[in-house]
Amino acid sequence: MIHLQEQVDLSSFNTFGIQCSARYFVSIQRLDQLKALLELDLLKKCSRLVLGGGSNLLFTKDFFDGLVIKNEIEGIEKVRETADHCWLKVGAGEAWHPFVLYCVENDLGGIENLSLIPGSVGAAPMQNIGAYGVEVKDVIESVDVFDFQTSNSKQLNNRDCAFGYRESYFKNEGKDRFFITHVTFKLSKRNHVMKTEYGAIKDYLTKMNINELSLRAVSDAVIAIRKSKLPDPVQIGNAGSFFKNPTITLQQYVQLKQQHTHMPMYTVDDKHVKVPAGWLIEQCGWKGKKIGHVGVHAQQALVIVNYGGAKGEEIVTLAQSIQRSVKQNYGIELQMEVNMI
Ligand code: FAD
Ligand code: EPU
Repeated sequence: MIHLQEQVDLSSFNTFGIQCSARYFVSIQRLDQLKALLELDLLKKCSRLVLGGGSNLLFTKDFFDGLVIKNEIEGIEKVRETADHCWLKVGAGEAWHPFVLYCVENDLGGIENLSLIPGSVGAAPMQNIGAYGVEVKDVIESVDVFDFQTSNSKQLNNRDCAFGYRESYFKNEGKDRFFITHVTFKLSKRNHVMKTEYGAIKDYLTKMNINELSLRAVSDAVIAIRKSKLPDPVQIGNAGSFFKNPTITLQQYVQLKQQHTHMPMYTVDDKHVKVPAGWLIEQCGWKGKKIGHVGVHAQQALVIVNYGGAKGEEIVTLAQSIQRSVKQNYGIELQMEVNMI
């Protein structure tokens, strides 16, 4: 059964809390519903938006003239096991953070550093979610998709997904073509490789007197760090980092460093470095600034917030002003991480 709704308010379906209504809206729990849906003449030529938790998108207009397909495909299934590893095939509509906690509770390692990231399992491959030294590509075995072009399902392996920093095939050549239905993860059962290089994780473990590392301890540390600087979307509308951290050439960095002696960086390769966008935005004086209904978060300059009642356009205008000032002061182009709809 398909329950097609019309003129649905999407305010509670996006963590920015932007008011936007969709011409058509449907929730999908099974793959066969998706096929049936596309056979409806009404929807054949409609533009589509696959929606997870709405935590990485911005509605730029107050009307979406198309069909929103809310992903509610659930289930966690063990599909393979060896002495060292376990493969879990997970419904794309499962919420990400509860899935991380499920893994931690079952002593399955690999995604504990990705604790507390909002959104759905199905959106995780989309931008190759990452935090605290881990990217989800490190544990993705395969991604099952429904292809809107052919109305068939297929499986893509890790290499097919062309993962990069906040990038994938699904954001580029495969944009708007697929509905991700399941993701299969390869997780460790023993000899977990825990990543604690991020300074703040080590500091937390020391502060809590934790000498014996465990998946739970790493997850708890990440949760505590995130809570201390990222705004909770339930309280203040936001979509996490609004921009990506830009990669520049080492040569450009060396030149900039002459003027900006404290400029931080992370090495990418022997010719490139990554500069924290939060630092650039803060240096340009935006941190904590409020303009109308929107602003730049006071604890994390990379996060743009909706203090309530903002329109998508106001956020776009602020984002563009930030881009202009970073370009003017540092010659660096900031790219948006959030998906504009
Ligand atoms: P949505 O916002 O619903 O969708 C995002 C995009 O993916 C859209 O283009 C949508 O069409 C597409 N999409 C969603 N589901 C599917 C599907 N099943 N098939 C095909 N396309 C799909 N991200 C990080 O990487 N690291 C972080 O540390 C991080 N921290 C965050 C902190 C906060 C407070 C917030 C609000 C966001 C943060 N994010 C972070 C961003 C966001 O949580 C992730 O990108 C998340 O994976 C988005 O999931 P979602 O289900 O909400 O996706
Ligand atoms: N910084 C500032 N001022 C700020 C914020 C950051 O100077 O207001 C500088 C500091 O030098 C700090 C550095 O930036 O040491 C890094 O800051 P942080 O550790 O907070 O991480 P980030 O680079 O701002 C990235 C991801 C986050 C992820 C964290 C933790 C991107 C675009 N963002 O942020 O992901 O949670 O690292 O790994 O890569 C998201 O994608 O939505 C997201 C929140």
